[in-house]
Amino acid sequence: MKRIAVFTSGGDAPGMNAAIRAVVRTAVYHGIEVYGIMRGYSGMIKGEFVKLDSASVANTIQKGGTILKSARSQKFMTKEGRQQAFDQLVNHGIDGLVAIGGNGTFTGAMLFEQEFGIPTVGAPGTIDNDLYGTDYTIGYDTAVNTALEAIDKIRDTADSHDRCFFVEVMGRDSGYIAIPCAIGGGAEIVMIPETQMSTEAVIDNLKTSWQRSKTSFLVVVAEGEEEGNAHHVAQRVKAAIPELDTRVTIIGHIQRGGAPSAADRMLASQIGIAAVEGLLNGMRNVMAGIVDRKLVYTPFTDTIHKKKLINQSFMRMVEILSV
Ligand code: F6P
Repeated sequence: MKRIAVFTSGGDAPGMNAAIRAVVRTAVYHGIEVYGIMRGYSGMIKGEFVKLDSASVANTIQKGGTILKSARSQKFMTKEGRQQAFDQLVNHGIDGLVAIGGNGTFTGAMLFEQEFGIPTVGAPGTIDNDLYGTDYTIGYDTAVNTALEAIDKIRDTADSHDRCFFVEVMGRDSGYIAIPCAIGGGAEIVMIPETQMSTEAVIDNLKTSWQRSKTSFLVVVAEGEEEGNAHHVAQRVKAAIPELDTRVTIIGHIQRGGAPSAADRMLASQIGIAAVEGLLNGMRNVMAGIVDRKLVYTPFTDTIHKKKLINQSFMRMVEILSV
């Protein structure tokens, strides 16, 4: 392998730059040329390639976002789009890829490898932490801390006004962000897609706490919650307990930005190195991840199709700690 390319795709995540930096410097360390592809698969199709060297990634480890920019490409989901992307890789003499992203990114990479045989190793870059094959994804730790900082502030005002706040956090179809936000933020209740907590159960719980003279409440709602979004849940609660002064906060995209935490910089650096060395050792169609503190490579098909389960004891922790 003589020349590889790295790209970021899907939602950006803090620590992606640290991962790009590690990929570039590992390639340089092993005497391989490295290109960056701008805007993920979309830039691959259009031929947006830039040659990178050690200096190109100087002063980036601490920066949020992604210097290679990111996109979600519909065109890459078509055979024609993938053919164009492949032609660009051939034109640029690329013989291996490092894909930094989430499930959508790896689904694309898997198809691409099946059709054109381009070896790809993935790096889990998403705030959602919903990827099987790694305990943590790059960006998750920072996103949780960002959300928690916001929640701490919400608690101040909730307490001052004796209010019940419904705080919606990101996570797509998973509750991984919601759980530590609820435990660390001292929430009364957490609603996540992985457990079927009904709004009726939330109402009962709040009624009981209200009767026990609790005056302010925090309910963390994961955005993928099946009972509906935070506004919807809050409306139903308000209808059932009119004396509760309810408010809703959607934390939103601030969870995606900001300087990566120490843990994310460390994880991204470890995985960036592992991705390039995996490629050099003949790996393809796998994601590099850390499970139980050990480096593992998991086939894309498993990262895509297997569900990373939420530890049910966390739900119990929320229940016990909000008593
Ligand atoms: O996958 C990361 C994520 O932030 C999810 O938590 C969220 O559902 C989604 O991306 C939002 O995507 P967009 O930035 O395209 O609105």
